[in-house]
Amino acid sequence: MKVLAIVGSLRENSLTEQVTRAAGDLAPEGVEVGIYEGLASVPAYNADHDPAYDGPEPVPAEVEDLRDRISAADALLIVTPEYNAGPPGYLKNAIDWASRPHKASSLAGKPAAIVSQSPMPFGGIWANQSLRKSLTITGTPTVERELAIGKVDEKLEDGRLVDDQARADLTALMAELNELVAVIADQDQEAVTA
Ligand SMILES: Cc1cc2nc3c(=O)[nH]c(=O)nc-3n(C[C@H](O)[C@H](O)[C@H](O)COP(=O)(O)O)c2cc1C
Repeated sequence: MKVLAIVGSLRENSLTEQVTRAAGDLAPEGVEVGIYEGLASVPAYNADHDPAYDGPEPVPAEVEDLRDRISAADALLIVTPEYNAGPPGYLKNAIDWASRPHKASSLAGKPAAIVSQSPMPFGGIWANQSLRKSLTITGTPTVERELAIGKVDEKLEDGRLVDDQARADLTALMAELNELVAVIADQDQEAVTA
């Protein structure tokens, strides 16, 4: 199973990236987590450039790449910091591009999990919940577990997640994502044979 991870921080060796790498290490056997590298290049959403409205084909190349990468993955993992009580604008922007055309987008039906992190105690929970709300609108089934890792700077050492509870939570989240992929695949199979 291939998971596409979107790292919601553009900073080199960010805390978000370190948590994402930990998620890859803690994923069940057979689950491969690959990081999407194009987030900084996704242009600002503009309906004039969106064929789902009146824009010309094709969409900007960076957007096509984003959509292709999501479509090719079995699941999506979004790991995010919190900026002013929400997700970073460029991350939301990428989701907005990926969400078109509505109901037939790369995000529709794609199993997903969200992790937020922050050096603050609440772990970026508002960014987490805001993303979850967006993924409801995009038709993206999301694991039930809400994982917000607070005081994350105290839980990482030399780039490794060392906190036992955070490791257990991340392990459980990745297992849930794996299960969700299987459930959605079964549902899709039933729909085909019905
Ligand atoms: C513009 C901006 C707004 C921020 N707002 C919040 C916030 O609302 N809540 C919070 O917990 N941290 C906030 N922070 C702190 C970030 O969550 C913190 O810097 C985070 O660890 C950055 O993660 P990174 O190392 O992955 O870039 C903010 C940081 C920036 C740059």
